[in-house]
Amino acid sequence: MSKRIPVIAANWKMYKTKDEALAFIFAVNEKVPTRDKVESVVCAPAILLNLLVKREGDNLRIGAQNMHYAEEGAFTGENSPAQVKTSGAEYILIGHSERRSYFNETDETVNLKMHAAFKHELTPILCVGEQLAERESNSTKAVLDSQLEIAFKGISAEQALATIIAYEPVWAIGTGKTATPTMANDTIKDIRAKVEALYGKAVADGIRILYGGSVKPDNIKVLLAESDIDGALIGGAALDPNNFLVFTDAALNK
Ligand code: PGA
Repeated sequence: MSKRIPVIAANWKMYKTKDEALAFIFAVNEKVPTRDKVESVVCAPAILLNLLVKREGDNLRIGAQNMHYAEEGAFTGENSPAQVKTSGAEYILIGHSERRSYFNETDETVNLKMHAAFKHELTPILCVGEQLAERESNSTKAVLDSQLEIAFKGISAEQALATIIAYEPVWAIGTGKTATPTMANDTIKDIRAKVEALYGKAVADGIRILYGGSVKPDNIKVLLAESDIDGALIGGAALDPNNFLVFTDAALNK
């Protein structure tokens, strides 16, 4: 039995209206496992956060998908870390590949957001991952090492331990192409080794590292059966409450 508590995080992206979001929460709220066994998180659009936090049960947790790193300012359309925090959200996705590719996020802004998250006592779910061409040219390890080095710059060991890393190969997101469990596990082992190089063995042994990219009800078990995969960050398939419960149940049995 792994001593790391597994995490199942849904990334709703830009899906669900208010009513759809509430229907989901009511469907899963009382059914997710207790928090000491599985951390069940829904990362929702910012406009829904407060509403969902008010309805969340004892074991479901709410996260945001993005925030600005500045304290406040003239950034039309953005949300500040304090706004996310005071919405009641507890988690924040940082550096999702869609943010990196469509909204010009860089490793440097990811690092600024990591610092902002800890300043406002939000738990970061830090997303890293390689492009297909990088995997094919055998540069996955170098790409991930560099993403991790920059993301964790100036972050303490205690903060690193509290971070959740999501390894999401960009070529597997929303494409139906999942990394094989062995491939995902091997890459996550490399990520853990990098965390060890940066922070030592205790942090590397304790930090949760998730896999994300076309996780479905029919592949969650084989992924979670791997030694180093501590949970999943799930987009499309986790929009359905029944699927979400399949994922949290699978994590319960890890
Ligand atoms: P997917 O998305 O599960 O739809 O591939 C994963 C993600 O973007 O986090």
